[in-house]
Amino acid sequence: MNHNQDQSITVIILAAGMGTRMKSAQPKVMHAIANQPMIRRVVRTALELNASNIVTVIGPDMQPVADAVDIELKDSTCTHHLVVQHDRLGTGHAVRVALESFKQGIPDGKVLVLYGDTPLIYSDTLIKMIQSFDQDTITGSVVLGFRPQDPGKYGRLVTGEGGLLNAIIEYKDASDEERQISLCNSGVMAFDAVTLTQTIDLIDNQNASSEYYLTDMVAILAGQGKQSAFIEASESEVMGINDKTQLAQAEAIVQDRLRTKAMLSGVTLVAPETIFLSEDTCFGVDVTIQPHVFIALGVTIGDGVTIKAFSHLEQTRIDKGASVGPYSRLRPGSVIGQNAGIGNFVEIKNSNIAQDAKIGHLSYIGDADIGSDTNIGAGTITCNYDGYQKHKTTIGSSAFIGSNSIFIAPVEIGNNTLTAAGSVITKNVPDDALAVSRSGQKIYANKAKEIQLKKNPQISVEHNNKEKV
Ligand code: UD1
Ligand code: MG
Repeated sequence: MNHNQDQSITVIILAAGMGTRMKSAQPKVMHAIANQPMIRRVVRTALELNASNIVTVIGPDMQPVADAVDIELKDSTCTHHLVVQHDRLGTGHAVRVALESFKQGIPDGKVLVLYGDTPLIYSDTLIKMIQSFDQDTITGSVVLGFRPQDPGKYGRLVTGEGGLLNAIIEYKDASDEERQISLCNSGVMAFDAVTLTQTIDLIDNQNASSEYYLTDMVAILAGQGKQSAFIEASESEVMGINDKTQLAQAEAIVQDRLRTKAMLSGVTLVAPETIFLSEDTCFGVDVTIQPHVFIALGVTIGDGVTIKAFSHLEQTRIDKGASVGPYSRLRPGSVIGQNAGIGNFVEIKNSNIAQDAKIGHLSYIGDADIGSDTNIGAGTITCNYDGYQKHKTTIGSSAFIGSNSIFIAPVEIGNNTLTAAGSVITKNVPDDALAVSRSGQKIYANKAKEIQLKKNPQISVEHNNKEKV
């Protein structure tokens, strides 16, 4: 979303904490929501604001966080500074090291401080914060507040006349009376760049945690006659993620947003709460998704496609009119052509399935090209891996592949071919040919009865008795 922006926006993302409550070896902000590290969502929000600079403050040994940010920024013109905060001395200190990364000083404009572990905020909310500076009276900061069901240990917003903000008091430093305040600090704060730079060094660590609190800025600015304001967001929008239960809650919120967006764009989700989507899932018109479908990153679903129940899709393109599932698994690199049919217990990986091809039952198709109108019988497998390398199977158009055909790749099968059911195909098959590769059937008359009698002579007595009745 754009807004009237006559000055640049710098976004500082604080992410130096490991997040011990996640009980994980990964930095907290690398945990995924809708299949992507949560830090990417925060960066995306900054890009929606048209931020011209982003500074990410990380702790030592957090290169994966830097990499995730770079992926999100790869098509943007936004400048990125990565800052390592070696000692976590508090949010005020983290912002100071972020400002120090601008050798020429931070560009004029507004500065927004976001947390890497608070990824559900809408950019519209942040725009409202920045617009609050348009009132001439607001020359200090703008803080995003909320009223949680349980205010717990959040910092409290101490308000004054006319909806202004006098101070933020951290829970540990608050009096009993101040702890009664229900309006809390989400952590998101906006400043004018010049004011922030001139004031940040005034923050000290004389408090219950011996930390440099960014939140002290409000009172310091008030002391200089600069007024601050706050706006309010819902609790779900500003929820922070500290442990795996909150990670699951955030996932639920994001899935709900993705489902709503998909349905409002015309996608039929038969039981939305059972369908999992990714941020980048693309839908055509008249797409129907039956219950219990999981869609990972990189999936494009064309017009009129139906995804039947219990299917799992990842990095796959499904073209117009195709049908997938129930119980299909489409793995990275799969392209399903127009009107193709992929049925139950079919796994496809890194393969092109041309239009009108059918793979109906119990198959593994990996590293293969399947031509148009070809029918792949039940139980067909491409043996793409010889223990050392992957090899390709090519099957032409209008082929009829008998059930339980096994293709030992590399192998090429022509157009209009037939393979007999149960064949193990190791050699190329030319156009229009039939390939049979299985041992011939032999009949041994009465042999079955003979074997049974040997095992259990009783059988013949029972058999005779039955005949008499
Ligand atoms: C902070 C706020 C509090 C607010 C709460 C909302 C301060 C002093 N307090 O408290 O008012 O209610 O968030 O969740 O700001 N971080 C760094 N470097 C540091 C310290 C923190 O990068 O030196 C990062 C953390 O990784 C985290 C964020 O800043 O992403 C917030 O830090 P945290 O220690 O969780 O602050 P709180 O005590 O929760
Ligand atoms: Mg916190």
